[in-house]
Amino acid sequence: MDTGMRARMVVDQSAFKLSMRQLAGAVSVVTVGEREDRTGFTATSVSSLSADVPSVIVSVNRTSSSWPIVEKYRRFCINVLAADQQHVAQSFAGFGGRKGIARYADAQWYCLATGTAALRNALTVLDCELETVFNHHSHAVLIGRICAIDTREDVEPLLYWRGGYRRLSTDAMADSPT
Ligand SMILES: Cc1cc2nc3c(=O)[nH]c(=O)nc-3n(C[C@H](O)[C@H](O)[C@H](O)COP(=O)(O)O)c2cc1C
Repeated sequence: MDTGMRARMVVDQSAFKLSMRQLAGAVSVVTVGEREDRTGFTATSVSSLSADVPSVIVSVNRTSSSWPIVEKYRRFCINVLAADQQHVAQSFAGFGGRKGIARYADAQWYCLATGTAALRNALTVLDCELETVFNHHSHAVLIGRICAIDTREDVEPLLYWRGGYRRLSTDAMADSPT
């Protein structure tokens, strides 16, 4: 079997999901839209792309309510959650059937540069203009150019690992190399 064929072998989807559960990630909510159009989604797919032209990547399922709003406004805001903001993650994951603007209840919001809502007291906020989109099967990969940043140094992150929300353990931090 040549290497090209090996690369195209299909792996079992449940093995892939099990593998991805091992990936510990920061939890963000991506806010999109304006006024009554506002919606958004919880995301662990946020990743830094470039510091030369400050930019980030996030992927969004094209069946989600956020995708048409991203296409319409071509801007979004990434709000990286602090450890005490799990309830915001649950709202933006649609927990309890929350849709659209109802996801913004129970948290405080303000605006940075683009007019998209930014979460008060988030760990860090990245206000973005949509620069490039790649469609890949079910998802759109969004590349956002950063227009404004707001960062807090005094709080810890909310994490997601093995299907649950987690916090940094004080013991683990004490054991880690400096
Ligand atoms: C921890 C966590 C991480 C998620 N990460 C992503 C993500 O990176 N991209 C995505 O499209 N959906 C992600 N989701 C799912 C969306 O948050 C959720 O499907 C969406 O808010 C609901 O779609 P709706 O707006 O159509 O109701 C994640 C959900 C959870 C709980």
